[in-house]
Amino acid sequence: MPEPLGVIGCALWHAGISISSCLLGNLVRNSPAADSESFSLPLHSSPPQPCSLYLLGVTVFDLSVEHQQPARHNYRRYKLIVEMGGAGSPLDCCEEIPDEESSQTPPGYVEEPLDECVRMFNDSLPFGKKHEFWETQPVCQFKDLGNPDLPEGPIEQSTPSSEVMQEPYALPPELEWTTCDMTSEETSDEIYEFLNNNYVEDDENMFRFDYSKEFLRWALCPPGYYKSWHVGFRDKASRKLVGFITGIPARMRVRGEVIDMAEINFLCVHKELRSRRLAPVLIKEVVRRFRLENIWQAAKTAGAYLPTPIATCQYWHRSLNPTKLINIGFSSLPSRMTTSQVIHLYELPDTTSTPGFRKMGPHDVPAVTRLLRDYLTQFVVAPDFDEDTVRHWLLPIENVVDTFVVEHPDTGDITDFCSFSCIPLSILGNPDYSTLKAAYSYYNVSTKTPLDQLMNDALIVAKQRDFDVFNALHIMHNKTFLNELKFLPGSGYLHYYLYNYRLQDRLLPSELGLVLL
Ligand SMILES: CC(C)(COP(=O)(O)OP(=O)(O)OC[C@H]1O[C@@H](n2cnc3c(N)ncnc32)[C@H](O)[C@@H]1OP(=O)(O)O)[C@@H](O)C(=O)NCCC(=O)NCCS
Repeated sequence: MPEPLGVIGCALWHAGISISSCLLGNLVRNSPAADSESFSLPLHSSPPQPCSLYLLGVTVFDLSVEHQQPARHNYRRYKLIVEMGGAGSPLDCCEEIPDEESSQTPPGYVEEPLDECVRMFNDSLPFGKKHEFWETQPVCQFKDLGNPDLPEGPIEQSTPSSEVMQEPYALPPELEWTTCDMTSEETSDEIYEFLNNNYVEDDENMFRFDYSKEFLRWALCPPGYYKSWHVGFRDKASRKLVGFITGIPARMRVRGEVIDMAEINFLCVHKELRSRRLAPVLIKEVVRRFRLENIWQAAKTAGAYLPTPIATCQYWHRSLNPTKLINIGFSSLPSRMTTSQVIHLYELPDTTSTPGFRKMGPHDVPAVTRLLRDYLTQFVVAPDFDEDTVRHWLLPIENVVDTFVVEHPDTGDITDFCSFSCIPLSILGNPDYSTLKAAYSYYNVSTKTPLDQLMNDALIVAKQRDFDVFNALHIMHNKTFLNELKFLPGSGYLHYYLYNYRLQDRLLPSELGLVLL
């Protein structure tokens, strides 16, 4: 699931704040990272593994940062990253924004005293937290990350499916299991309603995902899907659906190995049944059903920080309808800018610029599959698509997914493509607006057209289709176009997880070639 709901602005861990430049004196220069822009902050608790906390992209004020122009007011984004046991260079996660020629806080940034930031960070540290459920599961535990004695690969070995528990897990007496038939109009209406009222919200409860029924069908019924992996539980008395979780089959490549996995999504428990340890029962039950089909690994994304992400990615947002985004509180009017200046800033041409840019059709499937398969080989974790899965996941479906290819005007070759999915959000408690239409960058491959030009055309067609915002994670090569195309980092972070598969080190977002819905 995408963690959607980050409002535009700088994020400090999950705190959603940035740091005031005047307090940088409190920072302690950090030696482990041999770069001149990393600093360490004192931590109250000591994590079990070697761990450094880096403050990246430090505002250059009076601070003697090497290789820096001594420009005053040269703001950069802040980001705190916990690097455990030899993860990649933190600098790779550092994003620069253009110099600001003013002493104002950059647009969308909020100032907070540094000591307050450190306190909030310490409060959010996950290491000391007990995970009664996840500590019993075959997932990489926090303490295991970076341990060279633990091999990469499956954590538990598979057993014959006859040895898998044949009966569902026990539920409280008032609840009963149900298998959801997505081909039934009535059941998909019920699931839509349930998620529409209970699924993911942002921290401020301003927005909630509003996945359409068509989207849910698309997301849950790819080639070879198992109906038995669409699991829910009902309240026996009212017959109402009050819990849900899904799996779909996916071939995933982890380094050189292609593994048949499940992708877990749409975990949801009715608001009135929260904190009753029902989520672990749903997870165990769907995993049991995977095992019955001889699937022993799974991939999942979540906003929640659990043992142990293989990577943590940030959402970036490109305003397409800035007035609405400001009015609904998704973004704020940058200081010292008028609404008309902001509108002007985010204006886009009426038409796309790349010759041969057009909607993907069924006859493009072989060429798109070739491009995508080639492209994804460079990432550590990525799906292993074939023509059937590309046909399902990339052929355009109105208000669900859109894909555009570039057909070379002379040769007719398909040289590039871009795609995005459509996930509306309910705007909660706003008298003027009820829906925010968000496009989520999906898979984009460029071999001839520069990626930023291709993605600018994606923004243009998204704008033509009335999207309010275009969201992208800084995975794959997305980082190369985000600044250029006026995306801003949001407060939403998305953690990627593998179930029953250990990677020795955390991956950089740029090493991930996987988008989950
Ligand atoms: C996510 C949700 C199902 C969790 O249910 P809950 O009632 O809050 O929590 P429960 O008491 O049932 O279970 C708690 C356990 O589930 C784990 N958990 C919570 N959210 C989780 C998630 N998104 N993925 C996996 N495990 C999760 C907790 O870490 C805890 O396990 P631990 O003790 O090992 O840490 C519920 O909050 C919900 O429906 N939220 C809205 C939808 C949502 O956010 N879905 C997650 C999408 S990834």
